[in-house]
Amino acid sequence: MKNLLYIFALWILISGCQQNSTNMFTIQSPDTLLEVQVFLTNSGQPAYRIQFNGQALIDTSFLGFDLKDQPSLAKGFEVIGSGNYELDDTWEMPWGEKRFVENNYNELILNLQETESPKRKLDLHFKVYNDGIGFRYEFPEQEGLKEVMILNENTQFKLAGDHKVWWQPGDWDIYEHLYNTSKFSEIDALSKANHPDLAQTYIPENAVNTPVTMKTADGLYLSFHEANLTNYAGMTLKVDTINLSLQSNLVGSERTDYKVKRSLPCNTPWRTIQISETAGGLIESDLIVNLNEPNKLGDISWFKPMKYIGIWWEMHLGKSTWAYQGGKHGATTEHARELIDFAAANNIGGLLVEGWNTGWEHWIGFEEREGVFDFVTPYPDYNLEEVVEYGKEKGVEIIMHHETSAAPRTYDEQLDTAFSLMHSLGIHSVKTGYVGKIIPKGEYHHGQWMVNHYRKVLETAAKYQVAVNAHEPIKATGIRRTLPNAISREGLRGQEFNAWASDGGNPPEHLSIVAFTRMLAGPIDFTPGIFDIKFDNWKKNNRVNTTLAQQLALYVVIYSPVQMAADLIENYEGQPAFQFIQDVGVDWEQSRVLNGEPGDFVTIAREERNTGNWFVGGITDENERDMVINFDFLEEGKVYEATIYRDGTDADWDKNPTSIDIEKLKIQKGEEYKLWLAPGGGFAMSLLAQ
Ligand code: NOJ
Ligand code: CA
Repeated sequence: MKNLLYIFALWILISGCQQNSTNMFTIQSPDTLLEVQVFLTNSGQPAYRIQFNGQALIDTSFLGFDLKDQPSLAKGFEVIGSGNYELDDTWEMPWGEKRFVENNYNELILNLQETESPKRKLDLHFKVYNDGIGFRYEFPEQEGLKEVMILNENTQFKLAGDHKVWWQPGDWDIYEHLYNTSKFSEIDALSKANHPDLAQTYIPENAVNTPVTMKTADGLYLSFHEANLTNYAGMTLKVDTINLSLQSNLVGSERTDYKVKRSLPCNTPWRTIQISETAGGLIESDLIVNLNEPNKLGDISWFKPMKYIGIWWEMHLGKSTWAYQGGKHGATTEHARELIDFAAANNIGGLLVEGWNTGWEHWIGFEEREGVFDFVTPYPDYNLEEVVEYGKEKGVEIIMHHETSAAPRTYDEQLDTAFSLMHSLGIHSVKTGYVGKIIPKGEYHHGQWMVNHYRKVLETAAKYQVAVNAHEPIKATGIRRTLPNAISREGLRGQEFNAWASDGGNPPEHLSIVAFTRMLAGPIDFTPGIFDIKFDNWKKNNRVNTTLAQQLALYVVIYSPVQMAADLIENYEGQPAFQFIQDVGVDWEQSRVLNGEPGDFVTIAREERNTGNWFVGGITDENERDMVINFDFLEEGKVYEATIYRDGTDADWDKNPTSIDIEKLKIQKGEEYKLWLAPGGGFAMSLLAQ
């Protein structure tokens, strides 16, 4: 016991808390590996620290707020109450990476109050899971404080080392930067400002967007993010490269002199740290969804996970245009019918049609974007009713498209009209877009004002049985649990960058980082499946920087309940590899990460709901790789008809991207399969249960 006390005292000393701390509260994860200590310093400042398996993971880090028209909430607190709670529960996802989610945590609630006038109260909630930690602030109802205007939230994360970090700059507007890999002390977000291909960007300081993922010298993986971002500003994390710490910096607005305004009682989003001994454990973690409220929509069986094609890639290639004017209009009735025929013949459930409505002639480059787009009026060569009707005959659902051009007030005014039109036509999903700087000027995509706009769209859509796939979205924070009509979103450098980026497109390592960063936040509409990798007929200076086999692998690796087969349909004709896109599932009973390392490679196996079929996808960065897949995950005693799509022996993302070998064989649990992944390559497998 003496020894233990000694170690404990030493740990406090090492972790930089010189003062004696008072009121120490400790909670552990259900498996006891994670431990959080929450306490007040001698000056009554709230602080916490975290240990994993006895090692310091987050050193003493302070908590608090700067508020407008009142003193900061930072010091002078005492603990006036506390409670410990626990939950061990399971809930069901209406669609998802898995059907059942285990929700098992220990919780600590601390009620704090200032000892001196104005004696304001503030509560801290900590939930500790086996896969990480979430904590949030609550402003309880109290005398004399009816509203807070938050100038900044000062939540610290003091790292225990100079970790390896996969990060993108703390941009208040956009999450479409490439990921960077560096030591924490070498993060330099400001050097990423003003990328020529971004329609909106604002990086005010050396900060990172979340999720930001790290690896410690001991090989532990961490990822920082937030859960349940509701009526609050998005959080970027300011980087202190000297003291190795992160501090919340909320996205602001130039229209107000505060960042968040709330009436009491209210709470902040959860500040989250996912923690795992394996990189794959981060992907398997359910922390973000678990920290959201249960489903409020009830039965949403009107939305069916699906694959879709689109009148889309052709605009990005320059083959056709969104706008009617100019003689190359893509969204014509005739073209839509042609695509519906293709979808119906190839087990594809949806067709996205962009450029169907009036307004595109005033899209990019127009400052006056207010009132330009109309979400109910088709161009003259597109008969919306006819296309929807023809789709119904063929079993193909039309996906609506609403590009707001970042004029949310114009969209807001038309929400009910636009969604009731969809409802009357039986259209159950919409892809939204917010390209450009937000109007009104001074708002950013991730400020409180826009957080509330995106939420209003989701809630209104739900009333009309519409599911939303947002581009240029608010970041995903697990709201899909509460509002499962939040089906997918962009919020990363998607495939489209390969069509026009001036920097050569997404490098081969891109998605092996995305899987361990952006994907921890939620489903991604990446739009995989480009077969014409170099598309020289359209653009000689752009291309996709992967092999064809990697494009297939992405249907399994990158999760979304809507998955696009993004290429021009003529590029799928006569392609044996297209069989994989026809076969692959989109809704999963369970998912297993078989291997992986951020920035290098990752392999995921997923079991389709209701069929017992498994699909496996693996990708590598610019390095070739040998891999052994062990089929332990299959059901005992069953024989699976396997089709394996792998890089040809001469494949290479740069020189020979379309070389692919397809092999058919029977596979059973316990067997192994050896693979070679080409530089920038990958593989996909379908395992159909017999
Ligand atoms: C940006 C979206 O990411 C892209 O997919 C879409 O085609 C354009 N906006 C037009 O809305
Ligand atoms: Ca985009």
